[in-house]
Amino acid sequence: MMKALLVEKIDGKPGQVYYPLKQVDLPKPSIRPGEVLVKILAAALNHREVFIRQHLYPGISFETPLGADGVGLVVDTSSPELEKKWKGKKVVLTPGRGWQDSEEGPEGQYVIVGGTVGVSHGTLQEYVAISAAELEEAPSHLTIPEAAAIPLAGLTAYRATFTKAKLKAGQNVLISGIGGGVALFALQFAVATGATVFVTSGSEEKIAKAKELGAAHGVNYKQQDWSKQLKALLPKDRPYLDAVIDGAGGDIVMQTFSLLKLGGIISCYGMTSNPKTIFPMQAVLKNIELRGSTMGSRKEFAEMVQFIHKHNIKPVLSSVVRGLDRAEEVFEAMKNGTQFGKLVVEVDIEGGDSSKL
Ligand SMILES: NC(=O)c1ccc[n+]([C@@H]2O[C@H](COP(=O)([O-])OP(=O)(O)OC[C@H]3O[C@@H](n4cnc5c(N)ncnc54)[C@H](OP(=O)(O)O)[C@@H]3O)[C@@H](O)[C@H]2O)c1
Repeated sequence: MMKALLVEKIDGKPGQVYYPLKQVDLPKPSIRPGEVLVKILAAALNHREVFIRQHLYPGISFETPLGADGVGLVVDTSSPELEKKWKGKKVVLTPGRGWQDSEEGPEGQYVIVGGTVGVSHGTLQEYVAISAAELEEAPSHLTIPEAAAIPLAGLTAYRATFTKAKLKAGQNVLISGIGGGVALFALQFAVATGATVFVTSGSEEKIAKAKELGAAHGVNYKQQDWSKQLKALLPKDRPYLDAVIDGAGGDIVMQTFSLLKLGGIISCYGMTSNPKTIFPMQAVLKNIELRGSTMGSRKEFAEMVQFIHKHNIKPVLSSVVRGLDRAEEVFEAMKNGTQFGKLVVEVDIEGGDSSKL
């Protein structure tokens, strides 16, 4: 048997309910041809787990363990070839299924791992049986909790920054809501690319921390005139934004279309503040492009892991707790928005030093 974390069904309306976490014992999975058995070492949270508990997420399952992000150790394999390639390796697991390499979007029925119907596992569980095609070797410069933090947020940020915003060295980019898990990866990717990064946040402290990570300037989105403040901060020799990477929705187009260059791109991967945005005629006349962006393909996942390795990027961690029974502590931080960086649960509490891979 193995321990796993589920949400428990209780009465309540979507948005008002907050399903409790439930730790259960489930049969340890057995592997089929093409699969390997991964002992999960650590798992990280994303906002979707809070949305699942609030019943604000499609296709919730009360039987599938939670968690899309994970790092683990391959402990068993289904063939001598897989044993040679993977046994004993530390791996990060892909967080989605049904999307190989199309730039446009998933070729098949796309599902995200953990807490939803259509997949049988999450990462907040001790063992996962998984196709070997869903593994990448964890970058060797990371700790176990840092590696756990990569998959979903790293993939979303990679697609939003490079595939959609087409960000290049020397360009100016605005990244909104910098305290968010995806936004922080986008910041690190943009800095590594050589772009000049501007951020928004609801917290001065988070803006200061973003500057330590390489952001040039930041403004507080709680102040009504934040886009005016941002305009004054743009460099004299490039007084416009090339792109906006946004997870907030709402008034983002209204606030930024006048700062963007002709043909500037708003790459929007979420709508935390409001699920609708107005696209005014002035933005049409500037040839502004609003591009929706989601997690990403299997191909982009491999590229993202390589990018992190190549640029020695260390994911920002907000807090790490040890043991599935302490997961509620990190859920509270995510729910209250107090985190700066990823929230991680070390699933393997008997494991040794997690400060190395
Ligand atoms: N489409 C996809 O495939 C996909 C994938 C991943 C995430 N998402 C979506 O992207 C969003 C962020 O996800 P996450 O996991 O990174 O969440 P998260 O870590 O909880 O971050 C949310 C952030 O939103 C920011 N925020 C809140 N109100 C804001 C406002 N009015 N204006 C600007 N920023 C605001 C906050 O930034 P500060 O703390 O700095 O104030 C907060 O840290 C969610 O809506 C999520 O569902 C979508």
